[in-house]
Amino acid sequence: MLSAKATCNSHGQDSSYFLGWEEYEKNPYHPIDNPTGMIQMGLAENQLSFDLLESWLHDNPNSASFTAQSSFSFREIALFQDYHGLPAFKNALADFMSEIRENKVSFNPNNLVLTAGATSANETLMFCLADPGDAFLLPTPYYPGDEIYSGTVFSSPGFVSILEVLKNKDLMNSDVAKRVHIVYSLSKDLGLPGFRIGAIYSNDNIVVSAATKMSSFGLISSQTQYLLSQILSDKKFTNNYLTENRRRLKQRHEMLEKLLQKAGIRCLKSNAGLFSWVDMRCLLSAQTFEGEMELWKKIVYEVGLNISPGSSCHCSEPGWFRVCFANMSEETLALAMQRLSSFVDSMVKKADRSGHRPVDRSARRSKSLPKWGFFAVLLHRKVGEERCV
Ligand SMILES: Cc1ncc(COP(=O)(O)O)c(C=O)c1O
Repeated sequence: MLSAKATCNSHGQDSSYFLGWEEYEKNPYHPIDNPTGMIQMGLAENQLSFDLLESWLHDNPNSASFTAQSSFSFREIALFQDYHGLPAFKNALADFMSEIRENKVSFNPNNLVLTAGATSANETLMFCLADPGDAFLLPTPYYPGDEIYSGTVFSSPGFVSILEVLKNKDLMNSDVAKRVHIVYSLSKDLGLPGFRIGAIYSNDNIVVSAATKMSSFGLISSQTQYLLSQILSDKKFTNNYLTENRRRLKQRHEMLEKLLQKAGIRCLKSNAGLFSWVDMRCLLSAQTFEGEMELWKKIVYEVGLNISPGSSCHCSEPGWFRVCFANMSEETLALAMQRLSSFVDSMVKKADRSGHRPVDRSARRSKSLPKWGFFAVLLHRKVGEERCV
C-alpha cells in the first residue's frame, strides 16, 4: 500500500526544470572530454569563490580533520548530538547572518533552528504554521522565497532584511514580529549546497520549540556544524569572502548581460543572485506556454544549453527563462553565449529565407536593443501575426 502523497503526480519531478537536468546528465559538457556536450545553466550554484574556501581549509587543516590539534575529538563529534545543534555553530551562524546585514540587526542564536538546508527549513516551517487544507500565497515567478540570497547582493539597491524592516518600524517586540519567520541557508552565500546547512529564525518561541523538535528529521551532521563553526568564526575570512564574492558575482553578471546583449537578447536588470531572468519572448513562434516549451526544447537539444523555462517557476507570461551564470568558468559561459548567438543568427536567417525583410545585422550587433523589436516582428510575421513596422 502506498500513500496518496507517494502516488500523486504533483511533486514536479517531471517538470522541465528536472527534465533539463536529466538531459544534462546524459551528455554533460567538458572542455576537453566532451566539448559539444550540454552546458548546465539551470543550476543556481555558486562556484565563483571556491578558491577562497579551499585556501582557508589549506591554512586551517585541523578544522577538517581529527588530529590531536583539533579542538573537537572524533568521539565528541561521532557520538549523539541533540537536535539543538552545536552552540558554537549557532553563535557563528547568527553572527554571520548579522554581518551580511551589515550588523544593522542582530540574530539571537536561541531563536535559530538548524535544518538540512533551506528546503528542509521550508518544510518544517510549513508544518509549524499550517494545517491540512491551509494554503500559502507565493508571488510568481518563484522558487520558495527566503533570505537565502542575502549575501549575494552585488549592486544597489542593497539587501534589506525583513528584520530590519521590523526594527525600523519599531515592531521588534510586537505580535507582528512573532509572525515573521526567516529561512536561511549557506547553499548560495557560501556556495555549499552539498553540506546541507539551513536554518529557521523565528521570534515565536512556540515555532522555535516545535521546529527544533521536528528538525531531527533533517539534522546537519555534527562534523559539518563543527567545520562551519570554525570557518564562520574567522571574521577576517568572512569579511573578505563576502566582499570578494560580491565583486566576482557582479563581474560575472555583467559578463552575461554583455554577451546576451551582443546576441540580441535582453535580461531584466538585477542586483543579486546567481542567475538572470532572460527575455526570449521574441524568439517564440507563438506567445504561449506551448511556444515556450518548443523554444526550450530547441535550446536544450539543438543549442546544448540547459536553462529553465519560466513556466517551471510558474511565471505568468511565456518567453522568460532563468539562466544561471555562477556555476561554470568564464570560458564556459562565453561558449554558451556563442552557441546562443549562433542560434539567434540561424533563426534570423530562417526568417530571411521565408521572404521577410532582411534583418539589419549590424544593428543587431550594436549595443542598444531596439532592433530586437524588429527581429521580434519578423518572427511574429512568420507565424502570421500583423506586421507593425
Ligand atoms: C530561493 C531558494 N530557496 C531554496 C533553495 C534550496 O536551498 P537549500 O540547498 O539550502 O535547500 C534554492 C536553491 O536552488 C533557492 O533558490
